[in-house]
Amino acid sequence: TWTPEAFVDMTVGALKERIGDDKVVLGLSGGVDSSVAAVLLHKAIGKNLYCIFVNNGLLRKGEFESVLEQYKDMGLNVKGVDASARFLDALAGVSDPEDKRKAIGNAFIEVFDDEAHRIEDVKYLAQGTIYPDVIESVSVNGGPSATIKSHHNVGGLPDFMKLEVVEPLKMLFKDEVRRVGAELEISDSILGRHPFPGPGLAIRILGDVTAEKVRILQEVDAIFINGLKEWMLYDKVWQAGAILLPVSSVGVMGDERTYEKVVALRAVESTDGMTADWVNLPYDFLQKTSNTIINRVKGVNRVVYDISSKPPATIEWE
Ligand code: XMP
Repeated sequence: TWTPEAFVDMTVGALKERIGDDKVVLGLSGGVDSSVAAVLLHKAIGKNLYCIFVNNGLLRKGEFESVLEQYKDMGLNVKGVDASARFLDALAGVSDPEDKRKAIGNAFIEVFDDEAHRIEDVKYLAQGTIYPDVIESVSVNGGPSATIKSHHNVGGLPDFMKLEVVEPLKMLFKDEVRRVGAELEISDSILGRHPFPGPGLAIRILGDVTAEKVRILQEVDAIFINGLKEWMLYDKVWQAGAILLPVSSVGVMGDERTYEKVVALRAVESTDGMTADWVNLPYDFLQKTSNTIINRVKGVNRVVYDISSKPPATIEWE
């Protein structure tokens, strides 16, 4: 029978044998898969694993700093690269969801390639690919994110992609990856993290993306997510987030009429993201969250809750 302990022993041994004294580069995302892959490799080859964590400026509020700190505490050899401005530039004036993904994917490749180049004689590229990713990319219908939406659309082949690929989690399902992560003593705050899309908040800002919109959405999202944690709802939800709508609506504040943005909150239950149901969050929680958002976040005067299931809706709005 499969056990996380046996998997770790076997995989660390195999990685040591395969890689020897060579160098490996790996892109950390803050998510479960890349984190578990990194710790496995770190156990096998130590400082010869070079991790790169890119801030695309589209992460949750404070995530880049806090996750980078966590990675360092875990002993990983990680370099944080703040490329926010570069991504925002690439996104300027781009409204189409697929074009946003392409712009972000290309910017990521450029930044990662630059950084990988700085590591001398790197031989391998490690990735946190898991079994469903492998299936998704070959099946006709694909997964939602594989075919309907392009993840990382690449033109040409950057240098780092010519490296030999190492994918230690390729045969595992998500729950097995979590168990391996627990065996490796990775913190619950990383292992229990909700899925978060690569293009980040850019696909939760409908229409074009600006620094100001990112800031507003980060504030709203933080209130929602921290609220879920405080109310012990976070672990009951598969994924949650806020969406900034390209709509202004009339409101009233004191004697003044306001004309400000609408945000939607979304929380879903799912097992694999292929289908999803909206979560019946307590009204008390929604009421409190809505009040806090409207009182604290300048520029927002209305909050709505998304009660659409997938299909026919998708989890993300773009
Ligand atoms: P949808 O919106 O297709 O989302 O129902 C299903 C799951 O996939 C995530 N998602 C993405 N993840 N790049 C990613 O890395 C993307 O472009 C992307 N689009 C959607 C979404 O967050 C959900 O977990």
